[in-house]
Amino acid sequence: MLRRLYHEQPESFAFTPANKAWAEAQLTKYPEGREASAVIPLLWRAQEQEGWLTRPAIEHVADMLGMADIRVLEVASFYFMFQLQPVGSVAHIQVCGTTSCMICGAEDLMAVCQEKIAANPHEISADGKLSWEEVECLGSCANAPMAQIGKDYYEDLTAERFGEIIEELRAGKVPVPGPQNGRYAAEPLSGLTSLTEHDSGKTKYNASVQLATDLGDTVKRIDGQEVPLLTPWSGKNATPTSRERADAAATGSKPVKAETPKSSVQQDAEAKKKPAAKEKQAEADHEKVDGEGDAERKADAGKESADAKGQATAPAGGAGEDVTSKDGGKASEAKASKPGPKAGADKATASADDTTGKAGKKAPASAEARTETSGEAPASAGSKPETLSAARGGKADNLKSIKGVGPKLEKLLNSMGFYHFDQIAKWSDEELEWVDENLEGFKGRARRDEWVSQAKVLAEGGETEFSGRVKKGDVY
Ligand code: FES
Repeated sequence: MLRRLYHEQPESFAFTPANKAWAEAQLTKYPEGREASAVIPLLWRAQEQEGWLTRPAIEHVADMLGMADIRVLEVASFYFMFQLQPVGSVAHIQVCGTTSCMICGAEDLMAVCQEKIAANPHEISADGKLSWEEVECLGSCANAPMAQIGKDYYEDLTAERFGEIIEELRAGKVPVPGPQNGRYAAEPLSGLTSLTEHDSGKTKYNASVQLATDLGDTVKRIDGQEVPLLTPWSGKNATPTSRERADAAATGSKPVKAETPKSSVQQDAEAKKKPAAKEKQAEADHEKVDGEGDAERKADAGKESADAKGQATAPAGGAGEDVTSKDGGKASEAKASKPGPKAGADKATASADDTTGKAGKKAPASAEARTETSGEAPASAGSKPETLSAARGGKADNLKSIKGVGPKLEKLLNSMGFYHFDQIAKWSDEELEWVDENLEGFKGRARRDEWVSQAKVLAEGGETEFSGRVKKGDVY
């Protein structure tokens, strides 16, 4: 089955405040520059919030992590734990159809799904409550056939028992997960043959089922009322666990969803991170303000940049040479540099001593950071445009007036030596290619958002629809 974005998508996505705080805290688990490692937890949380993964949610996670949308879509479309289209409001049932389960009756289980839910996988039942699909091995082969429902495994199924489970779910009940034939876990069907004496500390259910029933964090119901599947932590849908409800019942208080306490290290890291997260959000807001940012277009841009990277040749040649800017007037006040093709490699190693205007200019801070985090020298596709060592007259243009350039990108452009609209307006196709290739984390943006044509208007003192909105303060 093709896993692709659903044809109908919501306008936007935003984490609830609680989920946003949680997501930002996740970022603190990873070193600076490695935030992409949080992609799966953040996607999962987005899915828990919405029930399925929407395109705006994928884009939102990409923006939070400074990743190209296509990279996040690759993750979302690879793992079938991520639902790319709407699912039943109560449960989405994933029936394992791989060898062990197939031999032991998976086809019978799927026939039950067809009869009780919908004729086709991913089709939502007439009452809107259930959906189903066949998935690959879920790693519970010793308890075949089995199905995953919500976060839990229902194992050792028969068609009859599976049908009952579906009806129980539909009726608002939560069947106890785990083996359905009386087995405790994955011991032989005929019973244990060894370690029979060692059952001290044995809980009523096996470890995973015990945890599921203790937490109540699965297909949930409160007071017989349905709540959407997979939304235990989100905003108004936040639901206390069964343990919290039990505690509340014992004390007579209202059950409150417990917050996991943060360590002081986490709090410190979070405090340090917050400005960066805020900046990322501003970047996302800036880009999305006019409703543009189509994922497929972004995906294409990402693909183009990936292709460009693949075709990029290794840096070679001599160090850069200072030249006077071709701009008239104030341009003579600022030195322009036009490094040779080796600039990428040299940029990463140039020292502060090289600010004399001779070979090996100091690398822009961002280039150093990029090299440090990626372990690769910046790509050398295209040809590097002329740059300035500082803004002319010490006053840079507000590059955020260009649609697609937010605070972070403006900072990056400045660090690369671009401060003025007229610099950008003059980029040739080759130079544009170089810039796009070197916009680490934002590759392809310059061409995608047509910075050059916007800059031409702004350089001549004109105004674009977007720059007008920036001027009015509608856009940060
Ligand atoms: Fe079904 Fe492995 S074959 S869980």
